[in-house]
Amino acid sequence: MTELELISLAKQAAKNAYVPYSHHTVGAALLCKNGKVYLGCNIENAAYSPTNCAERTAFFKAVSEGEREFEAIAVVGGYELDFSGYFAPCGVCRQVMAEFCDLKTFRVIFGKNSDEFKVFTLEEILPSGFSPRDLRQP
Ligand code: THU
Repeated sequence: MTELELISLAKQAAKNAYVPYSHHTVGAALLCKNGKVYLGCNIENAAYSPTNCAERTAFFKAVSEGEREFEAIAVVGGYELDFSGYFAPCGVCRQVMAEFCDLKTFRVIFGKNSDEFKVFTLEEILPSGFSPRDLRQP
């Protein structure tokens, strides 16, 4: 699966975003090491704080289906499906990625409405992050 294929799936996922408050449609496509892809969109709530980001929707779908090994995630987002700029995952989503993914090898792909994209390792976008490794006994 190429980066552009994963970005294309993320754009499809964004079409299902439930965003009556912000109108910011976000889509994510999460690639597992076994080749399966889980899609996610953001799901807002009238009480605001229960809102779930697209990236976490994708992770929670995958983890709840038994997946534990992940390779990459592509993310797109913008006002009402306008993906003209890059959309960066929020800090909470980066933390959820750190729970399940290798900081040095998991790739986070920022997509937009062109063939351009940026790729970062999770460590690059979550430097000095807290992860399950920090809870292990010495
Ligand atoms: N959002 C995401 O889906 N992912 C992020 O990483 C950042 C923010 C959503 C939450 C909310 O529905 C909208 O974007 C505006 O914050």
